[in-house]
Amino acid sequence: AIDLTGRHFLKELDFAPEEFRGLVELAAELKAAKKAGTEVRRLAGRNIALIFAKTSTRTRCAFEVAAADQGASTTYLDPAGSQLGHKESVKDTARVLGRMFDGIEYRGTGQEVVEELAAHAGVPVWNGLTDQWHPTQMLADVLTMAEHSRSPLAETAYAYLGDARSNMGNSLLVTGALLGMDVRIVAPEQLWPDETVVAEARRLAETTGARVTLTEDVTEGVAGAEFVHTDVWVSMGEPAEVWDERIALLKPYAVTAEVLRATGRPDAKFMHCLPAFHDLGTALAREIHARHGLTSLEVTDEVFESARSIVFDQAENRMHTIKAVLVATLGGV
Ligand code: CP
Ligand code: NVA
Repeated sequence: AIDLTGRHFLKELDFAPEEFRGLVELAAELKAAKKAGTEVRRLAGRNIALIFAKTSTRTRCAFEVAAADQGASTTYLDPAGSQLGHKESVKDTARVLGRMFDGIEYRGTGQEVVEELAAHAGVPVWNGLTDQWHPTQMLADVLTMAEHSRSPLAETAYAYLGDARSNMGNSLLVTGALLGMDVRIVAPEQLWPDETVVAEARRLAETTGARVTLTEDVTEGVAGAEFVHTDVWVSMGEPAEVWDERIALLKPYAVTAEVLRATGRPDAKFMHCLPAFHDLGTALAREIHARHGLTSLEVTDEVFESARSIVFDQAENRMHTIKAVLVATLGGV
């Protein structure tokens, strides 16, 4: 199995394709072992710090359950519950936590914060989402696509519709490029990933054989895609004022039954990292409904609740894949 002892997990581009695939394979093995009741605790006695400067349901719970399954303990530091960023620098925090913990997860805004933690902690640091990248989500997305696809990854096509100038847009673009997949970014041009990210993906594609497409045209973008991904139209940390402009820009990019039909594939599946706005189940959704009269945004309730939707497999796989990262980087292999 893949051994990445002592390595950080900060962004997809830090990994060779075979390392990334190795983590996904390890996750599949760990998942099968858990389901069979044969899981071995490879991280007994280890201590893990979980720093969340932004909120979370899946990522936090995935780290906590994965660690517990493997015999490690976790300490959760919430957005307000530590000195980090208010009273103590990132560099000092890294050196303190590095003396106590065997590994540190960090979720926050700038990628430079998680990079600085990694530079000074002396133990593996894992990126639980920044404004730029969401690499643990990519392991779960790739595992989920591999489980549901009839073809090998290198022959799998997926499209991402919505706000692509975001962690999910960047990560889905470079991950497809890294793994030699057929990846399409479908969004208005002003919401495409930054040109440095696009250049990096195109450069990678030359060596991996990936096909990289960026288009404003939904029909062209989804044609032949086996998986259609989307994400929230306004990410954590963005000001609430962005909503109106984003809705106006992205309305034609909502994932509807018609969009799934346009793939031309009766087996096309819908994916979303979650949380999703597909009904009026949250206060924010009700507020947007009151202003815009919309009962869904990035995906219709019809698609979200349909048999095409594999979002809860995807959510479950966060745990198995994060477990693979812990086991591989903490030397549990
Ligand atoms: N997909 C994801 O990262 O979800 P959380 O924000 O709940 O962790
Ligand atoms: N793009 C979203 C992803 C949430 C998991 C955000 O950053 O809020």
